[in-house]
Formats: sequence, structure tokens, C-alpha cells
Amino acid sequence: MALGRLSRKALLGLGGNGGRLGIGLGLVRGFETVTLPDLPYDYGALEPAISAEIMLLHHQKHHQAYVSNYNKALEQLQDAISKGDVSSVVKLQSAIKFNGGGHINHSVFWKNLAPVQEGGGEPPKRSLGWAIDTQFGSLESIVVKMNTEGAALQGSGWVWLALDKEGTKLSIETTANQDPLVTKGATLVPLLGIDVWEHAYYLQYKNVKPDYLKNIWKVVNWKYASEVFEKESP
Ligand SMILES: [Fe+2]
Repeated sequence: MALGRLSRKALLGLGGNGGRLGIGLGLVRGFETVTLPDLPYDYGALEPAISAEIMLLHHQKHHQAYVSNYNKALEQLQDAISKGDVSSVVKLQSAIKFNGGGHINHSVFWKNLAPVQEGGGEPPKRSLGWAIDTQFGSLESIVVKMNTEGAALQGSGWVWLALDKEGTKLSIETTANQDPLVTKGATLVPLLGIDVWEHAYYLQYKNVKPDYLKNIWKVVNWKYASEVFEKESP
């Protein structure tokens, strides 16, 4: 899908509509559409922890749907703004949150995983390893806590290892549906997000979500989480 920019001029040139909407023109900016990112590994590279079939469907169908629906919602938003259609602008917020969140979350999720031969499952070292030991006691403690929270999550959602970049504090958070971590706090940065929607495991693990949560740690890319931690720590 080509990267496209929805017309900023079309938005900014509608001063009258902007006025009726009560939106300051300084807040109205151009929107860029998003694209499906490539996976940094082959679909079968995470086996046996996660099957190639799941990875292919998860990436090409589920993530692609969030991308397509987010872009569609942006186009509808542009149209609604240009018409001064406040009801439609408000109505579109849920689609933007859900599909934009789905795109954000999955874009992080792919980078949170790595094939075993490329370091998947290797424990974090350096500063993130020390922060985990200091704040949680051990890596095993985080695994147990995140698996417990993930297993207990009702419906669909995500479990996160978060960094509060204001105080270098780690925490475990959950979000419902496709809510991104930022909905839990503006200063929270996702180090590791685990997708606990059924589409992430059902074809392989059926109803046994705890087995999925147990095995995913074998392909967690702690190197990526460490890089984010070091970059975002004050
Ligand atoms: Fe997913």
C-alpha cells in the first residue's frame, strides 16, 4: 500500500468548517496513512513456539485489516471535517482508536519476538536486566506475573511490560481490545507487549491459553526491549 498524505490544504482551507467544529486550525493537521510493516523474520521462524500459519494470518490478515480500516477511517474523518459533520467526527473516534491501536500494538509485537537462533528467549542483559532484578526480584517473577495477568484477562487484549520514562519505573499493565499502552498513561512506553487475543494462538493452542503464554517466552526478543529501555530511560 502506497504511503499517502491526506490533504492538509483541504483541512486547513476550510476555515468556516473549522470554526463550526470549534477546532482551532492549529490543531488540525494533515494525516498520513499507514502501511503494513514487513516482519523482521520468516513466518515459520518462530516455530515451534508460534506456527507459521498463525504468523501468516496474524500479519497478512489481522494486522492488514487494522491498517486498512485505520486509513479508511482517516479518509472518512477528512470528509466529515470538510463537511463540518460533527456527529461523524465523533462517531469515527472509536474506529480510529481500535484500528490505530491495532496497528501500533502489532507493530511493537512483531519486534518483541525473534527466532531462537537470532537470540529469541535470551534473558535481558545490562541495564534492563538490572532494573528487572531490582524492581521485580527476577526475570522469572515478571514471567509469572505477566502470564497470570494474561491468563486472567477477560475477552481480548494485551499484557505489557511498561517503562514509565519519567521515573525509570517498570510496571506490568493490561489493556483491553486494541487499546495501546499510552491509554494507561502518557509517559508509559511499551518494552514488551504480548497479544492475548485468540487470533494470536487459537489455531495452534486451541483453548489452552496458558500454554501459549508459557511458550511465547522462548521467542521473546529481550534485545529489542533492552534497546527501547536504554533509549527511553531518562
Ligand atoms: Fe493480534
